Amino acid sequence: MGEWVIILGCSTGHGGATTRKLAENGYGIIGFHFDRGDVKREAEAFCKELKGITSDRCHFFNTNAASVDVMDDYIPKIKEITGGDAVKLLLHSIAFGTTTNFFGEKPVTQRQMEMTVHVMGTSLLYWVQKLYDAKLLGNGSRILGLTSEGNYLCMEGYGPVSVAKVALESITRQIGWELGQYGITANCIQAGVTPTRALTKISENWREWVEKTKRRNPMRRTTQPEDVANVVYLMLQPEADFINCSIVYTDGGEHRSGMIL
Ligand SMILES: NC(=O)c1ccc[n+]([C@@H]2O[C@H](COP(=O)([O-])OP(=O)(O)OC[C@H]3O[C@@H](n4cnc5c(N)ncnc54)[C@H](O)[C@@H]3O)[C@@H](O)[C@H]2O)c1
Repeated sequence: MGEWVIILGCSTGHGGATTRKLAENGYGIIGFHFDRGDVKREAEAFCKELKGITSDRCHFFNTNAASVDVMDDYIPKIKEITGGDAVKLLLHSIAFGTTTNFFGEKPVTQRQMEMTVHVMGTSLLYWVQKLYDAKLLGNGSRILGLTSEGNYLCMEGYGPVSVAKVALESITRQIGWELGQYGITANCIQAGVTPTRALTKISENWREWVEKTKRRNPMRRTTQPEDVANVVYLMLQPEADFINCSIVYTDGGEHRSGMIL
């Protein structure tokens, strides 16, 4: 039986592509997503499809994975699913936050900022603490977060998410630093601009952004969720055991290229 992975944000985008890739490669899937309407129905169909290719070793939970109460409720279920074995991976691929500027017509509020930083940043820490306490992380387990170039560049409406990304990066760094001695590593993958559902919500001008990115990227295309899925898969190999407290760029070199305005 293959190992189990936990994907937070398993239904679409980077998390969705990673879920598919890992299911196709023999991993059991424990996925969390938070969807309504058509996207919820698509997620249900996706889970059903994956059950087919994993001999039923796929569980999707449609709930707010950033809630500490939800974590407490689901950790015993996760333990039951894995039979008490440590998971191979915890991937944080949740996109849900406020995209607005700090000043102007709709300045970000304290509530919006704290929600964004928690859902897209600090929630990862509480998952790791609880999984670690439940002995669901062990030698060879990987913690991965998804960051972006917005961790050091300023962009229209991206301020609150940028704060969350910086938090996520320092959290993974510190986790890897504290848990590395047990063979548990933590890293961030920095994806380039990727046309996903989340991207369409950051800015009305996302199509223009995509076109500019294609010109800017040394490989003349945007990142695709499958690029990230491939790198997550690589990170699970034993050859990646010593990669810790790092940022793994998955953007075709985009971050090395100057901005096209
Ligand atoms: N799209 C990009 O250009 C890009 C670039 C770099 C990094 N990232 C990062 O990648 C990650 C995933 O983004 P994406 O672009 O794949 O987005 P997406 O919108 O395609 O996927 C987001 C996923 O998060 C889930 N989700 C949202 N809120 C949730 C919650 N409270 N609990 C559980 N699940 C929840 C959704 O159901 C969905 O599965 C984010 O951290 C994002 O910042 C995206």
